[in-house]
Amino acid sequence: MTREEELALEGYYGEARAIAMKVVVKVAEVSGAERLVPVKHAHISGISFKNIGEEGLEFLESLASKGARFAVPTTVNPGAFDLERRVEMKVDEGVVRGQFRVLDALRRMGAKISLSCTPYLYEMISFRDHLAWSESNAVLYANSVVGAMTNRDGGPLALFEAISGRAPLSGLHLEENRVPSLLLDFSGIRSRLLESGLIGAAGLVTGRITGSYVSLVRGLDLKNEDEVKLYLAAVGATGSTGLVLIEGVSPDLKHLRFSEHELERITLDWSALTAELERYSGAGDAVAVAGCPHMSRRELAEILEWVRRHGGAKRRLVLFASRAAVEGLVLNEPNVEVYADTCMVVSDLSRYAGRSVVTDSGKAAFYLASQGYAVRLVSRGELLKYVVGEGG
Ligand code: F3S
Repeated sequence: MTREEELALEGYYGEARAIAMKVVVKVAEVSGAERLVPVKHAHISGISFKNIGEEGLEFLESLASKGARFAVPTTVNPGAFDLERRVEMKVDEGVVRGQFRVLDALRRMGAKISLSCTPYLYEMISFRDHLAWSESNAVLYANSVVGAMTNRDGGPLALFEAISGRAPLSGLHLEENRVPSLLLDFSGIRSRLLESGLIGAAGLVTGRITGSYVSLVRGLDLKNEDEVKLYLAAVGATGSTGLVLIEGVSPDLKHLRFSEHELERITLDWSALTAELERYSGAGDAVAVAGCPHMSRRELAEILEWVRRHGGAKRRLVLFASRAAVEGLVLNEPNVEVYADTCMVVSDLSRYAGRSVVTDSGKAAFYLASQGYAVRLVSRGELLKYVVGEGG
């Protein structure tokens, strides 16, 4: 340990930092890390009062009252409701009070109240930066697209890493653990996949196969960063990996040394996607939901424009985005609602959109189905056609 880390552990920088350092050191010991690594940025998930309840709130407030302060710039995941539209979302008063107290505790510790799961669109992170991130889609994006280094930490660990400014030097913080062991080949269904636009389903299949391993993915044509984030979010729902090496996308592939012949090769056929879609084939007359992960400003603008050009929304469309993406956009399209600061999974969607949904997000399909919603998973194209009354 460095002298500064020892001092933190001994309580020289206060009680809260000592607690945080102790936790990080313990995790480092368990994971076999030789030392800690300074992190440049932290992102904390699990801050929706709907999910963490009183217990989580007390934990955050006790840390804040012990004087905890984030040692690095720290952003936070979506909360339980849109801070400006809680009436439309029919949010319970207890949840409102609880969420505001959560945000107050995080603010006192120095967090930027970004309330978005796409920090990679807004924060300055670069290749080989060490991060302490805890939202799976953000971790996958940071590692796989930016080439930054972060483990897929739980929310509490990322919080302690943010306070201590350190992470265990283990897992994906080490070059040798970023080398793939599987090759997932979509080449045989490349054109069918491109034509269908079933990116969410492809991500769910990838996650199921890759599990906790690092995979090299071949034969996927993802048009832009919005499609990449939709794919990776779905990977993170069914798999526990924090890194997928996508040919044509991942900068790691220019640097890592490995022999492709040593990888176990798995060739994907269409039946894998069909099986995935069958899991999410519920919901007849459903509300369309999208924005998991949060939509970028470009995506939002494109969708609104598409809907306008096609005669407007005949069915209800509920979208989720960061506050930064929404700000300044004209959002007056009838039947289209855009919520910021929250999402369909961490808010109580049933209160304002019912329990039957159709979505283009593999991750949302996975989590909403596990919460008992009737869910249909479709492509973005199909979703929009459904909204304007051109699809079933
Ligand atoms: Fe983001 Fe919520 Fe999906 S946090 S990745 S929109 S489940």
